Amino acid sequence: MEQIPRYTSYPTAPNFHSGVDGETYQNLLCKLEEKDILSLYFHIPFCRKLCWFCGCHTKIVNGYKPIENYLELLHQEIAMVAKMSGAKRVKYMHLGGGSPTVIEAPDFLKFMNTVRSNFKVLDEAEIAIELDPRTVNREKVLAYAKSGVNRASIGVQDFDEKVQKAINRHQSYEQVKNVVEHLREAKINEINFDLIYGLPFQNLETIKETIDNTIKLDPNRISLFGYAHVPWMKKHQELIPAKALPGPDLRMEMFDFAHEYLISNGYVSIGLDHFVKPDDSLAIAQKEQSLQRNFQGYTIDRADALLGLGVSSISTLPTAYLQNTSDYRSYAASIKNGSLPVVRGVELSINDIKRRKIIMSVMCGFKTKVCSNEFAPEIKSLLPYIQNGIVSYVDEHLTLNNRGHHQLRKIASKFDSYLSEGKVSFSQAV
Ligand SMILES: C[S@@+](CC[C@H](N)C(=O)[O-])C[C@H]1O[C@@H](n2cnc3c(N)ncnc32)[C@H](O)[C@@H]1O
Ligand code: SF4
Repeated sequence: MEQIPRYTSYPTAPNFHSGVDGETYQNLLCKLEEKDILSLYFHIPFCRKLCWFCGCHTKIVNGYKPIENYLELLHQEIAMVAKMSGAKRVKYMHLGGGSPTVIEAPDFLKFMNTVRSNFKVLDEAEIAIELDPRTVNREKVLAYAKSGVNRASIGVQDFDEKVQKAINRHQSYEQVKNVVEHLREAKINEINFDLIYGLPFQNLETIKETIDNTIKLDPNRISLFGYAHVPWMKKHQELIPAKALPGPDLRMEMFDFAHEYLISNGYVSIGLDHFVKPDDSLAIAQKEQSLQRNFQGYTIDRADALLGLGVSSISTLPTAYLQNTSDYRSYAASIKNGSLPVVRGVELSINDIKRRKIIMSVMCGFKTKVCSNEFAPEIKSLLPYIQNGIVSYVDEHLTLNNRGHHQLRKIASKFDSYLSEGKVSFSQAV
């Protein structure tokens, strides 16, 4: 089974190293200019119950005290980063996790006030939050709306009861429907559903049922992720019955079916795994060749820098990726000490930047310009794809035809100079 990255960054996170730290970050932050546009990402690393498929950085907590304590640290980190950053104007914000829905409504309002009093959040800012339908309620949704949230992404995964049991995630259609209704009542109309294919006991019938239920609730966007089964990294995934996992052929069939079915129901396919309504900003960006890719997936976010705050968050600056520590205690110690909690990352060489441009163009637009001299070995490695028509290479322009969409990650990976060193394992490519 082939293991290939999803390219939410290049170089990918497993290639980050400890030579990049808080000092590197501070130096880069102060080089940002007043005119620069920022994107902010906040990581809330808590959930109420563990989903056995989960690949996110999260921790299960019962009480509220750990969440309160964490928010206190996050407030301090926001103030610290804002003070060091030469740029303050924020056009994009994303709260992810874990489950940001574990935060109580009054604390959410307080958190957003802290962000607004330290940064200049633009009126037209896109503010998105990830929702676990099991821990959200009407009061929380009203607090999101009041504080300017205008996008919500709901973790749906799969509606089938047998699948839900095998992944330890029980949530009814009614629960999801209620959340959608609360959001629409609060005028948060930009709604995404996260779905996963490749989960235990899924088959073409269950996928159809999940998509039928999804269509009834009419989200603007759907992310259809391939289940990344990496038990060597996420021990709890061993709780998933391996025998019940669909094999590579069924995975591909399920994706193909979902792809066709969503398109025949009025969605447009975006990049690797997103589907959106034709008037959605992602569809427009794809048409205009301005689609971007970051750690949250496909986006229209073209900010000059993405600042990641909270445990394990990754920042993207024009010439570096920097990651906060994933260890809660080190994070707390660092913040209390007034130092940035960055512990790893990578500074980009000119060659990395060129390769990043090629890889992201392939991932977002299915085509890219490639210099035949500079990347001769890579073009040579693509010859089998060119010969059987999956890819064309004419006048230094590399284009994937429709048959090539399945091969997106594989083709992008030909330009990944770190992958050939073969140090790390990723999930399967389809
Ligand atoms: C942080 S969660 C979303 C919010 C909330 N925690 C929830 O699950 O409802 C991000 C999304 O990542 C996806 N995800 C998590 N683990 C995954 C895995 N191992 N493979 C593929 N997708 C995964 C799920 O679709 C999930 O909704
Ligand atoms: S709720 Fe989301 S982040 Fe939490 S364990 Fe489940 S998938 Fe992971």
